[in-house]
Amino acid sequence: MRVRILGSAAGGGIPQWNCACAGCAAARRSGAHRTQDGVAVTGDGTAWYLVNASPDLRVQLVSAGDLDPGPGRRDTPIRGVLLTTAELDHTAGLLGLREAGRLDLTATATVLAALPLIPILRRYTDLRTHELPIGAPLALDGGLTVRALVVGAKVPRYADPCPDHRPDDAWVTALRIGDERTGRSFVYATCLPAWTDAFDAFLAGADAALLDGTFSTEDEPARAAGLTRTPREMGHLPIAGALPALRRHPGVRFLFGHLNNTNPYAAGPAPVEVARDGQELLL
Ligand code: MLT
Ligand code: MN
Ligand code: ZN
Repeated sequence: MRVRILGSAAGGGIPQWNCACAGCAAARRSGAHRTQDGVAVTGDGTAWYLVNASPDLRVQLVSAGDLDPGPGRRDTPIRGVLLTTAELDHTAGLLGLREAGRLDLTATATVLAALPLIPILRRYTDLRTHELPIGAPLALDGGLTVRALVVGAKVPRYADPCPDHRPDDAWVTALRIGDERTGRSFVYATCLPAWTDAFDAFLAGADAALLDGTFSTEDEPARAAGLTRTPREMGHLPIAGALPALRRHPGVRFLFGHLNNTNPYAAGPAPVEVARDGQELLL
């Protein structure tokens, strides 16, 4: 299985277009930009799946090489898109896929029902939506399977308040993508409000995991941006909060993605592996 990190920043990217904070200014000066969170995964090197579709998707795809179209004029190795949230930084890029002959979109029933882009996309492409089951494995092309775990209940701002809110709503999921042939697996959890026992079990025995690196510490949003809400309240366990749990899983390679522009690890030294745009993991 191969995993390509398409983008490693939280919503807005680094630098964010209207942000003059120290991190964004440094990224502007150095040219060390980060595009918004998403990965591409393949089991056989031929059939690829996108996990999330950031507003930066077009530039991520044209610079990926392996995701080039062909041999037919409109052939593409991209077999579908899996969504882990309905947030705009994970879904706005779907609009950039409207030229597809057919677009297969897999997400929880909650996310599919909320996404305002779905009726729009139906006018442009042959959109096929598939419900992402919770817990049960779903087979993908190229020998992959995916399993989902609900990890959060944060409703995107455009859908909040959610009038027909139900207790079993599945707004935010983590995915475990396995390769049937090799037995290898990759966990994607870039929006993780808390490290629960259920998440700990979900992750156990994986080969690599891309975790929530939005914030470095609990006080980062207050210190760097004067925000009153804590990372956890924003649906993002800070890296410092995840560190003790990592020690329980010595066999897992942990990377952190979805970095906010206030996160000093985006440009500086970090106590963990920080994902880079364009990085590939061979599992
Ligand atoms: C998040 O990750 O918390 C959301 O994407 C925030 C947002 O961009 O509105
Ligand atoms: Mn986000
Ligand atoms: Zn900034």
